Amino acid sequence: MKIFLDTAEIEEIRTAARWGILDGVTTNPSLYAKVGGSYDSVLVEICKLTSGPVSAEVIADDVEGMLEEGRHFAKLAPNIVVKVAMSENGLEAIARFADEGIKTNCTLVFSTNQGLLAAKAGASLVSPFVGRLDDINQDGMTVVRELAEIFALYDIETEVLAASIRNPLHVTQAALAGAHIATLPFKVLQQMVHHPLTDKGIVQFKKDWDAARKSGAGKGA
Ligand code: E4P
Repeated sequence: MKIFLDTAEIEEIRTAARWGILDGVTTNPSLYAKVGGSYDSVLVEICKLTSGPVSAEVIADDVEGMLEEGRHFAKLAPNIVVKVAMSENGLEAIARFADEGIKTNCTLVFSTNQGLLAAKAGASLVSPFVGRLDDINQDGMTVVRELAEIFALYDIETEVLAASIRNPLHVTQAALAGAHIATLPFKVLQQMVHHPLTDKGIVQFKKDWDAARKSGAGKGA
């Protein structure tokens, strides 16, 4: 399963890229609002840090407006993927983008049928929002699993991107459910790195090493 970062924070993206685990990035208007500046320049900067897909979300709710914004984003870098919210106009825009060879990520997907329609319209990625479904007492991971099964069953090339991931358990569950990608807040990525026994073990090994050096152990012939 590929791992994307769900952020517009350049330093977080730079760090994950250094760790060697970054496969792409998703942004949305709320994440962009946290960093400010120009959305275009944030996107260009992100595209310099990863050659993987970088999702840029359109704001317009009419087809022509979506197309105009998406075509503009697509010119910023070759790895831009235009993010379009699920709607009747969104489906039409996704189909038009597909005809033009522009890749799309259909966002705000909350049901398996929405994901299926997005794939049929030609989306490269569909993003079921796991955490937001869990928040309303529905099992978000079911949508991820069903879409992964359906796409495999019918050889659909669209990839399932598990979004709205809130904790490390979601990541494991998404991988087991067959998600092709999970997009994570940086905090969840950090949580995945750590385990209390790992952190404790590192401290103990260092302590024992220092004690052994002090007592002269390991210095002999
Ligand atoms: C991803 O593309 C989505 O924008 C994101 O995962 C939404 O997450 P949230 O529900 O935590 O805002």
